Amino acid sequence: MQAGASESRRDFLVRSAGLAAAAGLAAVGAGCGASAGRFNRGPAVSVAEGPTPRRIGADDTIRFGLIGIGGHGRYDLSRLLTLKGVEVKAVADPDPENLRQAVELVKKAGGGDIDTYDGFDDWKNKLLARDDIDAVFTATPCYLHGPIHLACFAAGKHFYGEKPMCIEASEADALVGAQRRNPHVKGQIGFQRRGSRLYAEGIRRIREDEIGGMIDGRGAWNNSWGPLGLPHEKASTWPGRIWLGRTKYSGDWMLEQACHTWDVFCWAAGSMPVAASGVGRRDIYRDLDPERDVTDFYFAHLEFPNGLLVDFEHSWICPKTDGQERFNGVFERIAGKKGGIDLGAGLFFPREPKDGRNEPINYRPEEGCHYTASLQAFLDAIRNDTPVVCGVEEGRMATYTGLLVREAVYRGRRVEMKELM
Ligand SMILES: NC(=O)c1ccc[n+]([C@@H]2O[C@H](COP(=O)([O-])OP(=O)(O)OC[C@H]3O[C@@H](n4cnc5c(N)ncnc54)[C@H](O)[C@@H]3O)[C@@H](O)[C@H]2O)c1
Repeated sequence: MQAGASESRRDFLVRSAGLAAAAGLAAVGAGCGASAGRFNRGPAVSVAEGPTPRRIGADDTIRFGLIGIGGHGRYDLSRLLTLKGVEVKAVADPDPENLRQAVELVKKAGGGDIDTYDGFDDWKNKLLARDDIDAVFTATPCYLHGPIHLACFAAGKHFYGEKPMCIEASEADALVGAQRRNPHVKGQIGFQRRGSRLYAEGIRRIREDEIGGMIDGRGAWNNSWGPLGLPHEKASTWPGRIWLGRTKYSGDWMLEQACHTWDVFCWAAGSMPVAASGVGRRDIYRDLDPERDVTDFYFAHLEFPNGLLVDFEHSWICPKTDGQERFNGVFERIAGKKGGIDLGAGLFFPREPKDGRNEPINYRPEEGCHYTASLQAFLDAIRNDTPVVCGVEEGRMATYTGLLVREAVYRGRRVEMKELM
């Protein structure tokens, strides 16, 4: 059933601009002009107290609504549908083709008819307004995350919200406030590494000092499958995936993609960095899209209060030859005086030989997909009324770190976190 009215492309643009302004994008725009780079927190965001969610028992079905069902939304939906005790009731997305594909996925998994909403604001006015939805899964362009997550708290809905939690410092603070005012709402941020035993085990080993202090951190997110978000990738409705190439919609790669890496280092260090410096380029793909303003290549250094220094590289210009990706790699590694741990690989490299041997120790646990584990952890938190594996406090640290690195790269100098506070 098509529950929302279709919009023309022009209406959609106008409404998008309106929503962007409501989400404080005017402030972001001022804060990240190519040359200016002055950080602006944006106006304080008010926090509502919503209804207490229905108590869900161990055997109860959790009734879901989905907001934003593009590439990643469908990827996670197909995993959600493999989990026990889940029913999808409705989906909101202005793209009719994405709605159609979501309906198909639910049907294939044996679900019934679901309601679809295709108006730009239907996620709020229609989907969140329903009494028969307990929890929400969201995977929209990043600039909508903060407003959607805040609205979930106000509507008393549990939510699994794709990363980054938000792209504004003021929204990050508001979300922490909203969680305090609505303690029964489970708000999990979609950093799937937090749901994995692999990362938890590596962090445990680091925290128990197997590596001899956290000194040397290395991280990278080097891609050869870009650039993403070029105009020809337009989907059936605007903005398609152009949002990935526009800082005001994505937050730039330091928020959209590297937020995973910031989350891992903040998790290991137990805090946010105190300062960052960086340098990068926003002009690399302007020949393909004159309005593209994201930093497709940058280097950054992060300084954590415990003395950990992290060297990070992020690139969308890695070559690919003979079908093979070159210069690629996504990793988070931390070394101390006794050795180093590669968190994504599950390997410990001790400096000193053990039993006469000096080999890497593979502690990688047997486990399935991190996305599925993370979604299962969310369901468990709702059913058992236990804390989520990654909540808004963790989401705020990753957002603040992304804003710090972005500011450092835009200014091309060292920036201290206290300058953003
Ligand atoms: N956890 C991960 O590893 C991971 C991986 C990829 C993407 N993501 C995140 O998932 C999110 C979506 O990314 P994607 O690659 O699927 O992008 P996408 O462009 O393919 O999908 C976004 C969807 O949101 C919809 N949308 C736009 N405005 C909307 C509105 N007002 N109401 C409802 N829906 C709306 C779009 O029509 C589209 O279907 C992003 O935040 C991205 O950072 C996370």
